[in-house]
Amino acid sequence: MIKVGIIGAGGKMGKEVARTILNDPETKLCAALDISAHGIDVGKLLEMPELGVIATSSMDEFLANELDVVVDFTRAEAVKTNIPKVLQKRVRAVIGTTGLDQELVSSLEKLAVENDTAVFIAPNFAIGGVLMMKFAKEAVKYLPDVEVIELHHDKKVDAPSGTAVKTLEDMAENREPKRQGMADEYEKIPGARGGEYQGMHVHSVRLPGMVAHQEVIFGGLGQILTIRHDSFSRESFMPGVLIAVKRIGEYKGLVYGLDKLL
Ligand SMILES: NC(=O)c1ccc[n+]([C@@H]2O[C@H](COP(=O)([O-])OP(=O)(O)OC[C@H]3O[C@@H](n4cnc5c(N)ncnc54)[C@H](O)[C@@H]3O)[C@@H](O)[C@H]2O)c1
Repeated sequence: MIKVGIIGAGGKMGKEVARTILNDPETKLCAALDISAHGIDVGKLLEMPELGVIATSSMDEFLANELDVVVDFTRAEAVKTNIPKVLQKRVRAVIGTTGLDQELVSSLEKLAVENDTAVFIAPNFAIGGVLMMKFAKEAVKYLPDVEVIELHHDKKVDAPSGTAVKTLEDMAENREPKRQGMADEYEKIPGARGGEYQGMHVHSVRLPGMVAHQEVIFGGLGQILTIRHDSFSRESFMPGVLIAVKRIGEYKGLVYGLDKLL
């Protein structure tokens, strides 16, 4: 039985993770941390009978539980404060929170190595999302004219999405930097051409009704290739989260991206 603690247990993803951990015969939900759910039974958060696992806002209380793996779906600033304490206790961490900068990722890697444990970070836990990134990385070798449109719900704080950043980073490995569009193009409304990563443009849409969606559009002579992935519900991320929770014990240090575990 893998003993799991969830940080961000009262959030949209955290609640879905809690349900998944409770329903899997190989995992046990042992602790929950959330600054906005202190003292609330996780069962109540999930609108089901009480479970006896009470969410806390205190990291010390949370880590007083015996845990094998901590799953984090919060905000980048919270990861920076909380995950070092998890790794220093030699507990493995699975992080789905996006918007982590390179400095933070490197410091978590260092801490994991120093404490002989592991940290897993994935900007996208949906298997289809991982395949979208893999196919885009391949397609860009042949069709280097590319733009990315990512679409998310309007409660998302970081832009572009972690998935869009990872897609751009992956494609950049197979593409010479080249600015997309006319050299003398100009914006009549600032930001109209979106963000830019090594010449590839990225556009972020935020609307109610959306969950997590992305299109990678490649243009060629007389043709367009569109690779699109849609997560219609947060359930789409759960098989990936379970794979990470169950397999992170086989690794030490940093593992980045669900593709490494498939
Ligand atoms: N990797 C993926 O596949 C994937 C998928 C969906 C969302 N995400 C990311 O997951 C993160 C959470 O998304 P969400 O929609 O669940 O957000 P949310 O706002 O619904 O939930 C975040 C929760 O974290 C809690 N929190 C904030 N700071 C905290 C702290 N310091 N300590 C403890 N708890 C804290 C909040 O109280 C809240 O309940 C975002 O970064 C989002 O981009 C990743």
